[in-house]
Amino acid sequence: MSTIQAVHTTPIQGQKPGTSGVRKKVTEVLQPHYIENFTQSCFNTVKEREVLEGSTIVVSGDGRYYNKTAIQTILKVAAGNRVGRVWVGQNGILSTPAVSVIIREREGGIALGGLILTASHNPGGPNADFGIKYNIGNGGPAPEDWTNRIYEHTISISEYSIADIPDVDISSLGRTEFQVDGRPFVVEVIDSTEDYVAKMQSIFNFDDLRALVSRPDFKIHYDCLSGVSGPYARHIFHRILGVPLEQIKNSEPLEDFGGGHPDPNLVYAHDLVHAMGIGAEVQHGDYPDFGAANDGDADRNMILGKQFFVTPSDSVAVLAANSAAIPYFAGGLKGVARSMPTSTAIDFVGQKLGIQVYEVPTGWKFFGNLMDAGRLSICGEESFGTGSDHIREKDGVWAVLAWLSVIAYKNKNSDHLVGVEEIVRSHWQEYGRNYYMRYDYENVDSNAANQLMETLKNKFSEFQGQADSYEYTDPVDHSVTKNQGLRFITPEWRVIYRLSGTGSSGATVRVYYEKYEKVNLDLSTDQALGSIIDWSLKFSDINAILSVTGPTVIT
Ligand code: G6P
Ligand code: ZN
Repeated sequence: MSTIQAVHTTPIQGQKPGTSGVRKKVTEVLQPHYIENFTQSCFNTVKEREVLEGSTIVVSGDGRYYNKTAIQTILKVAAGNRVGRVWVGQNGILSTPAVSVIIREREGGIALGGLILTASHNPGGPNADFGIKYNIGNGGPAPEDWTNRIYEHTISISEYSIADIPDVDISSLGRTEFQVDGRPFVVEVIDSTEDYVAKMQSIFNFDDLRALVSRPDFKIHYDCLSGVSGPYARHIFHRILGVPLEQIKNSEPLEDFGGGHPDPNLVYAHDLVHAMGIGAEVQHGDYPDFGAANDGDADRNMILGKQFFVTPSDSVAVLAANSAAIPYFAGGLKGVARSMPTSTAIDFVGQKLGIQVYEVPTGWKFFGNLMDAGRLSICGEESFGTGSDHIREKDGVWAVLAWLSVIAYKNKNSDHLVGVEEIVRSHWQEYGRNYYMRYDYENVDSNAANQLMETLKNKFSEFQGQADSYEYTDPVDHSVTKNQGLRFITPEWRVIYRLSGTGSSGATVRVYYEKYEKVNLDLSTDQALGSIIDWSLKFSDINAILSVTGPTVIT
């Protein structure tokens, strides 16, 4: 029989959850009590609102370095706090969307919440990043009033409760029961993919998808970037839909993601980008027809066609415009939404459909409230996140299935293969095109980044157009979120400056450029946005203030 001990501890600086939980270098997380303190702070927050004792929670993550160690610690703290049962994915593997499905639906949605161990698209390994966040009972990230409370606990904590149970074997499925202070504590190691795959089968028409992917003139290339989407992609695309395994690349989750950035964008998913012939000299080569990648925890996605990149902002607009392709949306869309810096492409779709279009701050949690209130069906962010109200996280594998559903639908009565590029171009014909580009200045000095924002605020009055600091009032609970980015808007274009909330060190400044064109649909992005970028560089003096020569990443 195990007992519970109260262990004295002191607050650890820097455990404030950002856009999506706490993300830190592994080296920082290795300090004593790091995981215990954060876990206890989450549980203290839960106990103020719900009954933790005897409850079921989910604990797992994206398979990155240190997750397995952290899981063992969390299990002991969970037992110490009298949690009744913990579901752990086999080997500690569950994608972020899969955790959301499990919290919402497994055993009728009995789980109280979950701890997800991921730093998303950040690199992994002993010298790279670790992350942890709490998701609430709706399956979505804890909203700000929770995360603020968690943070308050992290800075005032003086003890945590821990049970002296042994490490649990999480490599094989099954149930282990302990007696902790006379009460049962159960760990159930569950299949990582089954709940999620069943959910996808309830949303999409798998017969249509199978027919599409087995067409001899339609080849797909899926890159899991050695993240957690691998097992899901293999289960759905190989085992169920019959896509040859060699077309599903890097599908074995690795603790260090093979040394790469598990981030599905044009820079970090370079092998996929190359395979799709983007930027290639040879035109009309034998490139795959459809390319996709997901990030480390499988909530992000990038969609590519043959030599063609779909911007995330266009992607969500196309999905919303073609939701009839997906059985789950048979009743029509309740509303659509995007984060503020995301291009307004989806707004035009919403207007045409006559449904509400919501603009929210960056961070998926803001969509959750709208979904819970039954106001929102499809939403997306420029940061390669797309999803729907089937769960409360963005969903990378879902986005791939949604795109394939649209392609299948567009090909129903077609004499030639209607591919990704044709679908997007005809979308632009109908709605106009939002040229879009993002400059990232990663890991710059935090003071310099703040100074940049201050300088820009002081220039609001000299701008010939609308200039403001974006502030959001949630239409459901009326909570107000301030300082979500500086906007410079004219009738033709928008430039937005924003501080990232997901970095693990220093500060990252993002600058978002967007221009709407109703007629000129075939410009290069540089042609369309060049003069706006030149204006912005001069107006903001960003290079000088940040002491840089240019952005580190352009997408
Ligand atoms: C995470 C969140 C997204 C958000 C993104 C922004 O991925 O889940 O909802 O869009 O972070 O990151 P940033 O670095 O721009 O704050
Ligand atoms: Zn992610």
